[in-house]
Amino acid sequence: MDLKMKSIKHDTIWRKFLLSAVLMSLLPILLLLYIVYFITTPREEINTTQIRWLIFWIMCSAMAGFWITKNMVRSFIQLSQGFKKVANGNYSAKLEKTDEAGEIDELSKAFNKITSRLEDNIRELQRSKRMIQDILSRVGKAVASFQDIDKFLELIVFTTIEAIGAKNGKLMLTDEEQKELTTKISFGQEQIQDHIIKSGEGLLGAVLKKGRPALLSKAESGYGMSVISVPLVYSNRINGIIVLNDKIDSKDFSEDDLFILSDLASHISIALENYRLSLDVEKTYIETINALAMAVDARDPYTRGHSKRVGEYCERIAKEFGLDNETVKMLKDASIVHDIGKIGIPDEILRKTTPLTEDEVKLIQQHPLIGENILRPIRSFEKLRHLIRLHHERLNGSGYPEGLAGKDLSLPLKIMIVADAFDAMTSNRPYRQAMSTLQAKQELQKYSGSLFDKEVVDKFVEII
Ligand SMILES: [Fe+2]
Ligand SMILES: [Fe+2]
Repeated sequence: MDLKMKSIKHDTIWRKFLLSAVLMSLLPILLLLYIVYFITTPREEINTTQIRWLIFWIMCSAMAGFWITKNMVRSFIQLSQGFKKVANGNYSAKLEKTDEAGEIDELSKAFNKITSRLEDNIRELQRSKRMIQDILSRVGKAVASFQDIDKFLELIVFTTIEAIGAKNGKLMLTDEEQKELTTKISFGQEQIQDHIIKSGEGLLGAVLKKGRPALLSKAESGYGMSVISVPLVYSNRINGIIVLNDKIDSKDFSEDDLFILSDLASHISIALENYRLSLDVEKTYIETINALAMAVDARDPYTRGHSKRVGEYCERIAKEFGLDNETVKMLKDASIVHDIGKIGIPDEILRKTTPLTEDEVKLIQQHPLIGENILRPIRSFEKLRHLIRLHHERLNGSGYPEGLAGKDLSLPLKIMIVADAFDAMTSNRPYRQAMSTLQAKQELQKYSGSLFDKEVVDKFVEII
């Protein structure tokens, strides 16, 4: 009996359905037969034993039919509950192991397999999401620190290595003729040797020569690790290559990895090109500053060297205050051109040896504003224009052109005011002789806290 039940359990749904239908239909058929028998047989001939057996078999078939149908229905209910759980977002839902075999068992197994895969996919998606968030935050930082191209490239290369899942990676740049590659940035334990690679030499040299990406499996590379390399091309010029090796799961890099790397490489190429351009802009900027400084010196021989010296004083005080390199550079550049406005003041006033009239003084006091206007069209001077305009302001508001005071003066400006005043005092002028360093220091200290910032004067006096 048990064997038969088991074989029924392992039957197909169709056969179970047929069996239960037959068993259940036996009930009305047997009942019908009983009624016919009962009507057609004379009362004294009715065999009660046969009737008992009949009722017994009717009960058995009804119970067997009920049992088979109940099991089928239960499995379907279980399945539908499982689907409902998944639909409600419970992807870890699993169906209990069923005694049933056949389609129901297959269906349960398939369901469990699907939810397992769903769980894996969700885990993978969550991992990708975390990675994308991480990449975005790194790129955000990189953009914020774009002033420093090395840091920017480092972040990009590091992020690329992490995104693709490589153990090592590096960025190599080409020379002017695109004949050689030298390492710019390198990450990973297995540092690929830093020697210069010539065009056509080895795998990386071939990438440079052909200008095409390379994807080599562990077996093909000859290093025992998979290698992937992409050239950094910008308008037909190869600025460098990016190379990754040794995939983290010890597998080979895939075509997908190559696709991601090529995509990232196009962005790195643009960053590199911007870097090259920024170097050009920087060069032009420095040349412009120097040309302007020379123009000032040529205009007023009495102040020859003044701008340069103010720049040097500014640098020393700024460093004493621990200001960052960018601010120090800004102060130096501003110092070099701070009196550029004197170009607009007539010679006879600049070189006058007798006291200036009120109008002449007013005209001379225009030089910070004239200077600011001269520099206005140059975008790279934007940040330092206010230093040019305000370098004759004084702490108590007695300066010009705006008469700003105290809190309106920034620390770099207060530094510049002291440096400019000190150099003016220690230089000859057409109308007076230069003071000694000691006298000038005493003068600064005398007006410390009124004309000049006390802290700046104290630090300046200490280092001069
Ligand atoms: Fe000035
Ligand atoms: Fe000056």
